[in-house]
Amino acid sequence: MEQTFIMIKPDGVQRGLVGEIIGRFEKKGFSLKGLKLLTVDRAFAEKHYADLSSKPFFNGLVEYIVSGPVVAMVWEGKNVVTTGRKIIGATNPADSAPGTIRGDFAIDIGRNVIHGSDAVESARKEIGLWFPEGVANWSSSLHPWIYE
Ligand code: TYD
Repeated sequence: MEQTFIMIKPDGVQRGLVGEIIGRFEKKGFSLKGLKLLTVDRAFAEKHYADLSSKPFFNGLVEYIVSGPVVAMVWEGKNVVTTGRKIIGATNPADSAPGTIRGDFAIDIGRNVIHGSDAVESARKEIGLWFPEGVANWSSSLHPWIYE
């Protein structure tokens, strides 16, 4: 089944939003397949955001991501990449709908609490980068109550 990479950024960890965010993905019905708290270095953050290296905000973005521990996760489920992005909300919290994570908990684009892969292919790459050791292989017994 489809998987996505979700990261709670340093502001989300510092602000005590880890439980709230995990709860939203859990309650939706998605399955947690990988989870770790870690602080990444500059080279790693630059690799994760390599596609944005030419952007004017790149340096600030990298500084922000290395500024404290992050929670790296892999979530699995039907359409989890697209639905995960909907749960997270628009990139700029000023445009994120209430009820989304960014809409409920963030104000500035450079402190938008959470990352989620934007496509199945980028999810595959990001999971490989953040979880080179692999992720857990288990199947929820709740599947018949979540999927028709
Ligand atoms: P992007 O991949 O465009 O957004 P998303 O995280 O929604 O996939 O950008 C990555 C991060 O870069 C974004 O979450 C916040 C930061 N960013 C800025 O700080 N300023 C900006 O103008 C943009 C577009 C992004």
